[in-house]
Amino acid sequence: MTSSQCLLLSSLAIILSFSLTQSLKFPSDLEVFHMYSPSSPLRPSNHLSWVDTIIKLQTEDEARLQFLGSLAAGRNKSVASIAWGRNILQSPTYIVKAKFGTPGQSLLLALDTSNDNVWIPCTACVGCGKTGFAPAKSTTYKKVHCGAPQCGQVPGPVCSPDKTCSSNFTYGSSSIVTRVSQDTLKLVTQEPIPKFTFGCIEKTTGGSTPPQGLLGLGRGPLSLPSQTYNLYKSTFSYCLPSFKSTKFSGSLRLGPVGQPPKIKTTPLLKNPRRSSLYYVKMIGIKVAKKVLDIPPTAFAFNPTTGAGTIFDSGTSFTTLVKPAYTALSAEFRRRMGKAKVVSLGGFDTCYTVPITTIPSITFMFNGLNFTLKPDNFLIKSSAGSTTCLAMAAAPDNLNSVLNVIANMQQQNHRVLFDIPNSRLGVAPQMCS
Ligand SMILES: *[C@@H]1O[C@H](CO)[C@@H](O)[C@H](O)[C@H]1NC(C)=O
Ligand SMILES: *[C@@H]1O[C@H](CO)[C@@H](O)[C@H](O)[C@H]1NC(C)=O
Ligand SMILES: *[C@@H]1O[C@H](CO)[C@@H](O)[C@H](O)[C@H]1NC(C)=O
Repeated sequence: MTSSQCLLLSSLAIILSFSLTQSLKFPSDLEVFHMYSPSSPLRPSNHLSWVDTIIKLQTEDEARLQFLGSLAAGRNKSVASIAWGRNILQSPTYIVKAKFGTPGQSLLLALDTSNDNVWIPCTACVGCGKTGFAPAKSTTYKKVHCGAPQCGQVPGPVCSPDKTCSSNFTYGSSSIVTRVSQDTLKLVTQEPIPKFTFGCIEKTTGGSTPPQGLLGLGRGPLSLPSQTYNLYKSTFSYCLPSFKSTKFSGSLRLGPVGQPPKIKTTPLLKNPRRSSLYYVKMIGIKVAKKVLDIPPTAFAFNPTTGAGTIFDSGTSFTTLVKPAYTALSAEFRRRMGKAKVVSLGGFDTCYTVPITTIPSITFMFNGLNFTLKPDNFLIKSSAGSTTCLAMAAAPDNLNSVLNVIANMQQQNHRVLFDIPNSRLGVAPQMCS
């Protein structure tokens, strides 16, 4: 980073004052909060400035995008399991509360639409933080046996001498061992779910320690929607609160009841090589009324290369493949005329002059135009001195063919995942 960028950063001064509220829209909604909100137990103790928070989220996005890229490229199980391990350590950003076992032990779980499993740190874990689930204190806890179908559905299954199943996966020099387990899961406001299969993390080496569990919301057999099909029909929606909100409460709504009936939807696409990712078909991008000139190849869905567009809850800022991002950024710059463009962290289209007329940005899908509000694409300093287009070009790695619609862009919308009807819906909703 150059010293002028440092200066620019230190001149930005958005103070975040988040607080959790209990004002949920539907009785069974689960409260969702951002991991850096002041009420979050996961918030780093050294309080970060807004700008440092953004930079940290961008840094975490880089690893997240590599993870998604490795999934999208449809690598085989042994390689995908590496990405899963990595993902646990990369802390997706939105959190819900849950209780495991009998009596229930409270844990925090990160929402992850691109993951198929539920993993939690356990007390005897070597290399984890100090808190975790204590299997010995639960009367309903069970280890999964090697012959059980679930043992074949986890990454890197290992059969212990006592014929119980572990899942062992590595990343670089890091290795993670989870005990494949079953116990009652209670998602705070919901009915208890008996015999829920999850990974109890027993050992991590070489990496940072998992600060919380992971709630996989993908389409694989061990995800929450798949395991709770009888209760919730593999249907859920969320409304993610804004990073900037002072009332910091979104919601996760499980099941078809209470979902917006008239929500506009677009078909979900299946990549058989990586069924957990929620692919949709983007067909264009509009700025105000102008449909940008982007080659259709930028939006092509290709299960072999992993190319296409996904919705992801764990990436903070949308990345678009180069031709799409370049067209969007060029149109934005064209509208700003001669104003000087500066960069901030990973954002390359920022201005120190006020942006007076803000055009809308619309992601166009088959059957659904998802129009972003300014708060979904502009990051502003409190003094209004610097404003950035909060998106970026896909990095030059595995992920360079994947458009990722990330969580800042989804904030204050209800996003519906209706797996039986294979559709994804988006409707504006202020949840914070
Ligand atoms: C899966 O990946 C591993 C590691 O790269 C490789 O050794 C193995 O041959 C691959 N298996 C298949 C079926 O592609
Ligand atoms: C897990 O895998 C690592 C490296 O692949 C290996 O050293 C270790 O013994 C394995 N642990 C178990 C419990 O199988
Ligand atoms: C989305 O916007 C385009 C261009 O403005 C329009 O032609 C199309 O009908 C819209 N689609 C939906 C589903 O509203």
